[in-house]
Amino acid sequence: MDLGVDIKSILEEIEKVSSLSDLYQLKVKYLGKKGIISQLNKNLKDIESDKRAEFGKKIHELRVLFENSYDEKEKALKEIERKQKLASEKIDITLPGFPINYGSIHPITKVYNEIVDIFTAMGFEVATGPEIESDFYNFEALNIPKAHPARDMQDTFYISEEVLLRTHTSPVQIRTMLEQKPPVKIIAPGKVYRCDSDVTHTPMFHQVEGLLVDEKVTFGDLKGTLTLFIKRLFGDDVPVRFRPSFFPFTEPSAEVDMGCVICNSKGCRVCKNTGWLEILGCGMVHPNVFKSVGYDSQKYRGYAFGMGIERITMLKFGINDLRLFFENNMKFLSQF
Ligand code: DAH
Repeated sequence: MDLGVDIKSILEEIEKVSSLSDLYQLKVKYLGKKGIISQLNKNLKDIESDKRAEFGKKIHELRVLFENSYDEKEKALKEIERKQKLASEKIDITLPGFPINYGSIHPITKVYNEIVDIFTAMGFEVATGPEIESDFYNFEALNIPKAHPARDMQDTFYISEEVLLRTHTSPVQIRTMLEQKPPVKIIAPGKVYRCDSDVTHTPMFHQVEGLLVDEKVTFGDLKGTLTLFIKRLFGDDVPVRFRPSFFPFTEPSAEVDMGCVICNSKGCRVCKNTGWLEILGCGMVHPNVFKSVGYDSQKYRGYAFGMGIERITMLKFGINDLRLFFENNMKFLSQF
């Protein structure tokens, strides 16, 4: 008994297909609602009843055969498709990646931390104050009254008549003494501002202030502390000298020089051929400063000092242009 279909050519037809969509078309052609195999099933009722079972069995066999070779072909085509997709998405894992730029500590931050470390090892505590300051803390309480000529030297950014950007870290002395009774032993690092901008000045820079108040403090203590500090920072061999100077908030006052680290005290452009570099100001706390914070100047003595971090950093690393600190140039910064 014959179904009237050529099984061999059906299987060949499946075999020849080269895409999943063509294969799907074949499924429609044979198994779809009006498909050839479905049609055979429909015609089953017209078959003579004694042959119907055998006919039905043959249709079923045909269907199973079709489905099996269909599934096999589908699997094979899917595998080809998967391989093509993988090939087209292939990445070369041997290509080197983009280089990563590591950050580094800014030289100012480096020296800032180093200065803080040296003083905290000597028992100083770190104190801070606001960068927006009042005239009282920045000037008045530091024995710099309104008409004092020393105000001229500090090109101040005024916000109003009474409010300004601090021109030095010295106001932290006042804030600390108003808050605590002696003994006081602090350093105050931070940003300060002056309306000044040229090759050797920037409108913002960094200072460290120091203050020690106790009952028996002498200028000798000040000398010893600062000499030790400079030697810790620049090496034991560097010579240090104290020169008389003037600051309104200290009496007596001094400036401290160290031997020029650029030319080894031989004389160069940086030390203006003197062999010495000025690196900080200091002195014994003026009685008027104690008075403005309510300390008894008969009972207490104190010393204070202040220095600029940019200048010290330039000397320490032999940097000759202040602007390099503020340009965010990776080539410069990555050296530290
Ligand atoms: N405040 C001074 C300035 O900005 C630096 C200074 C000098 C601070 C002497 C002091 C000091 O505490 O005793 O130039």
